[in-house]
Amino acid sequence: MKTLVKNGTVVTSTNEFVADILIENEKIAIIGQNIEVPDAKVIDATGKYVLPGGVDNHSHFEALNTDGVTTNAGYDTTWVALKGGTTTIVDFCNNEPGMNLMDSLNYRLNVRAKGKLAPDMALHTCCTDFTDETLDEIPKMIEFGVPTMKLFLAYKPTPLYMDDFKLLSCMKKAAEHGMTMMVHAENPDILNYERDTMAAKGCLEPKYHYMTRPPYGEAESVSKSIRLADATGCPLCVVHVSCIEAAQVIQEARAKGSLVIGETCPHYLVLDKHKMDNPDFDQACRWVCSPALRDKEDQDYLWKCLNHDWISIVGSDNSSIPLYQKHWGEHDFRAIPNGCPGAGDRLNVLWTYGVEKGRITKQKLVDIYATLPAKLNGIFPQKGTIDVGSDGDLVILDPEYRGTITVETNPTGVEYNVFEGMEQIGRADTVLLRGEVVVEGGEYLEKPVMGKFVPGKPYGLAYDLKK
Ligand code: URP
Ligand code: ZN
Ligand code: ZN
Repeated sequence: MKTLVKNGTVVTSTNEFVADILIENEKIAIIGQNIEVPDAKVIDATGKYVLPGGVDNHSHFEALNTDGVTTNAGYDTTWVALKGGTTTIVDFCNNEPGMNLMDSLNYRLNVRAKGKLAPDMALHTCCTDFTDETLDEIPKMIEFGVPTMKLFLAYKPTPLYMDDFKLLSCMKKAAEHGMTMMVHAENPDILNYERDTMAAKGCLEPKYHYMTRPPYGEAESVSKSIRLADATGCPLCVVHVSCIEAAQVIQEARAKGSLVIGETCPHYLVLDKHKMDNPDFDQACRWVCSPALRDKEDQDYLWKCLNHDWISIVGSDNSSIPLYQKHWGEHDFRAIPNGCPGAGDRLNVLWTYGVEKGRITKQKLVDIYATLPAKLNGIFPQKGTIDVGSDGDLVILDPEYRGTITVETNPTGVEYNVFEGMEQIGRADTVLLRGEVVVEGGEYLEKPVMGKFVPGKPYGLAYDLKK
């Protein structure tokens, strides 16, 4: 199969130029001028931007909570990512109840995601059940194509929580094998102190979620993680950085040469914590995620961080938690499942509130939403760029589109969109996954799903990221 995208303005992380792109047998075969191929399907991209398909470093399409209950809408909703211009998700694979990490990876690919995956998918392993076997699994998982591991340093005392002994052990082993460690960094004792103190006073509404997850609790945990990463030589990615304090810790560490990279998320860039002040629980609960949403000053600082490469990646942290599950915490904010949907709006938010507002360049957008996430996960240059030999994953972005984000126009897999009512400029008009058109006129084309597992190579963080 041949697909020819003509006359688009190609944007990469370093460049911008008008060109034709020929995709043949799923790969980009030629990038040039005036390409003519009689038997190719031709897509006219005149007046539009052609970006690499997005790589989302952070999604939880099917996550297990602490009781083994599955929260989040599931792999049959992964098409929302494609509709929003993300052609590769990197999903977190927790331990399945009673299974080791390798078996959990296999179960995820062969059972949970089987026949449902719309975009391509790489995986992070996420240890939620540390056993005698865990460290020996690290080289096996790298061999399998999973070179990144996440640990939750929050959520104590649930099984998700990993103490410093476990973090240090995993980092030492990961460093030996080129695995990048990822951390959900919030100091759980600080959080539990604040949460329990508040709850004891009868303060149980959703707004107490943000009041009891202070920025210093995040910054403290980021700081500790970097210290352990430095000591062990383990590459580190701090996910979902939400606030000035935490970002500054990463900024200083990078300036000193630590091998650490920070990720933030669209919701931390444009939404603030007062969304949770709504007295209507059904509304307020939608924005309960961890770390919590912060203030306008934090948003401004995170944009600045992206520009200076103090924070380098924007992942969605997609957790499409249906409202009935959010309602588990109706009488106590501590029982609201954490997470916001957002896989479909990562590009929309970055384009509208980043590029269009003059906060970031188009090249920076490509870097933070596709190229660096691909490098971090060891799937570059197959993914994350437009180059000869790369997969034919393209987003043809229409910069003239004007709209308002609603859950109907911008679906999430659940009943709500956390960006509801916000202006949208530009959209992924056409999306190609390995040369196949999967989105046309901004709409996902209902066809047999074609997502594949993309194995990653180790030493991703060291690839071109060490500045
Ligand atoms: O609130 C969040 N971020 N939920 C998803 C799980 C996690 O902590 O990343
Ligand atoms: Zn997290
Ligand atoms: Zn997450």
